[in-house]
Amino acid sequence: MMSNSEIIKEKLIHKGAEASLYYGHWFNKEVFFKYRIPKKYRLEELDKKIRTMRTIIESRALITVKNFGLNVPQVYEIDTKNSIIVMKYIKGEKLKDILNSLNDNKKQEYFKKIGRDIALLHKNGHIHGDITTSNIIITQNEDIFLIDFGLHEYSDTIEDKSVDLHLFKRVLISSHGKDYEFCFKAFLEGYKSEYDKEDLNVYNMIIKNITAIETRGRYVKSEERL
Ligand SMILES: Nc1ncnc2c1ncn2[C@@H]1O[C@H](COP(=O)(O)OP(=O)(O)O)[C@@H](O)[C@H]1O
Ligand SMILES: [Mg+2]
Repeated sequence: MMSNSEIIKEKLIHKGAEASLYYGHWFNKEVFFKYRIPKKYRLEELDKKIRTMRTIIESRALITVKNFGLNVPQVYEIDTKNSIIVMKYIKGEKLKDILNSLNDNKKQEYFKKIGRDIALLHKNGHIHGDITTSNIIITQNEDIFLIDFGLHEYSDTIEDKSVDLHLFKRVLISSHGKDYEFCFKAFLEGYKSEYDKEDLNVYNMIIKNITAIETRGRYVKSEERL
């Protein structure tokens, strides 16, 4: 059990809808704290349950996917009582902030690698749930870290995997429009390269289903217009 006194929050880095993220120290280590904040609009008891559950889901995901050789922040401590994950502080830049300044070679290299990483997750039955360029950190050594497993799920279905990819595609289109085509192509190349010959039909079904999701999306939207 961790005593709260070991947590030294020094700087609020990010305030999201669900969690506040702090830079700080923990037993002399530079760390990041992800603290899920209480929601006043939820019944207290239920709120506590939800925060505890999400804290456990995210830390378990971070710990498990490390075994596939992915770079994710190491989890140092899980304080379920206060809904805090203490994890390694990853020094680097969000892909979102540096994408514009990268040359084509780097873009291709990074997005291929990200594609391979996501394929590793998918092949092992893990859905990231929130693949965005804000949830990818590039370090000074150009290591690529996936973060934010708050929406992680276990699933081995084609549908869930294509939804994961579709979300990323939409993020690229909306936040990085002029880079979208080039980057998503590299991403899919990397993603595909992790599928063996006998699994290529799975890859093809996942890609085909992205189009199906988009068609559905248009259908819903035109329905709404009526
Ligand atoms: N381990 C970490 N090391 C360094 N920065 C981090 C780390 N975890 C999160 N961050 C920073 O905090 C931001 C928000 O964290 P994230 O886990 O994505 O929370 P949210 O669920 O609010 O999106 C990230 O975009 C990143 O800039
Ligand atoms: Mg995030």
